[in-house]
Amino acid sequence: MILWEIARATGLIAVLVYTLTAAWGTLLAGRGVQSPKGAVELHQVLQSFGLLLIISHVVALVLDEYANVPLRSVFGIDSRPSMVLGAVALWLAILLPLSFALRKRKKVSFRFWRGLHYFAYVFWGAAMAHGLWLGTDTGNPIILALYGLGIALVAGAAAWRFTGGAPPKAAKRTAAEI
Ligand code: HEM
Repeated sequence: MILWEIARATGLIAVLVYTLTAAWGTLLAGRGVQSPKGAVELHQVLQSFGLLLIISHVVALVLDEYANVPLRSVFGIDSRPSMVLGAVALWLAILLPLSFALRKRKKVSFRFWRGLHYFAYVFWGAAMAHGLWLGTDTGNPIILALYGLGIALVAGAAAWRFTGGAPPKAAKRTAAEI
């Protein structure tokens, strides 16, 4: 039972942390705003913390007899779409940080990196949908309000980012550094 509690808590905190990561990353890439010192590092620290939480979430669920999550579900082999969404989010969360590593080593162009990085929105959407759909705690009005706030935060940041036209050169530089 304790494993199930851990799984729920880590799942919820992961969604919260990734919501902040997505909103912060979107703001950093937007409209040529000069990033303050350490801003890109904060984005990466949040992302790493989120990944740690997701791994704990999945390991706890697989180990917990009560949750009854077979190992094949981790690879997306499950008849429940809500579980498949979780697996999509998990593998995107693992793959996305690799885009940082490739970009840092100049193995891929900025254009390619940015294309890949847009999958962060797919990841975040899948994680939100998975949590809302499957979560025991979705029934709690406070948790539901937190999901709503998170959606508003990322949607607001994206609206600000994408309605401002193409980011000027300074922003492109910042995004390329991420
Ligand atoms: C293969 C990957 C995954 C599997 C098999 C999985 C499985 C599950 C299961 C069985 C539950 C229901 C727990 C409950 O009874 O509340 C759950 C809930 C949840 N999961 Fe996942 N999950 C996966 C990936 C993820 C990822 C990547 C995230 C977030 C980034 C995430 C976030 C959540 C959240 C927020 C909840 C709701 C917790 C609650 O409200 O109690 N999961 N997951």
